[in-house]
Amino acid sequence: MVMFIGVINSKGGTGKTNTCRSLGRGLQKRGFKVSMADCDPQRALMEWRAKDEHSEQPEVSMINGRMSLLEAAERAQEDDFFLVDGLAGNFEITMMIVEAADLVILPVQPSPDDVNDLASMAKLITMNQAVRQNLPVARVLLNGVIRNASLNSVIREAVENEGLALFDSEIVRREAYRQAAAAGGTIYDYTGDSFTSGMVDFDSLISEIIESCQ
Ligand SMILES: Nc1ncnc2c1ncn2[C@@H]1O[C@H](COP(=O)(O)OP(=O)(O)OP(=O)(O)O)[C@@H](O)[C@H]1O
Ligand SMILES: [Mg+2]
Repeated sequence: MVMFIGVINSKGGTGKTNTCRSLGRGLQKRGFKVSMADCDPQRALMEWRAKDEHSEQPEVSMINGRMSLLEAAERAQEDDFFLVDGLAGNFEITMMIVEAADLVILPVQPSPDDVNDLASMAKLITMNQAVRQNLPVARVLLNGVIRNASLNSVIREAVENEGLALFDSEIVRREAYRQAAAAGGTIYDYTGDSFTSGMVDFDSLISEIIESCQ
């Protein structure tokens, strides 16, 4: 059965699209069947996928409302994972994803301002869990982390105080993500230390997600 993963945050630029690309490709590299959907009219995920039409990256569908999301989710029924890239600043689209997802990932930059913005997301998720037998499962993913920064543990505590759980895994800030995306790939597609380190971060996240399914 397919697992529907929504990647959302009401705030822009927190790493939703990067998380979809890297997570989708990493799951695919582990042998899972993966498809994706893009809810952003700026089409970042679609355009990244279109850079190389022959690439092995997961297919991406464009979503412009509830009907097209349901259609894409239905097409994904034979897949193992269906990843949906959300749209910042659009409560309707965010709600539509939360209502349908099994797991919601909220990429958050480790800054106090970004954590303050999580209150509305936490409320939306809690309200859905109340009527959907605790679904979706929701986890904050710290993205763009600077390793060993003293603020990291403070941020984790602040997120928990908003009533949201976090992945243990963190995604460190690395130029490799931009380099890979610019070439139509992900950190899984190129060789070099920075790409490999990014793979280690995403492999850790993938292991947590797979463990949560078992
Ligand atoms: N861990 C990271 N390290 C370095 N750069 C990153 C990282 N995560 C994301 N980025 C870069 O930061 C920018 C914003 O990330 P991304 O586009 O994934 O965010 P988003 O939440 O999808 O933004 P939007 O709300 O505009 O759709 C991109 O240029 C992306 O390549
Ligand atoms: Mg995006």
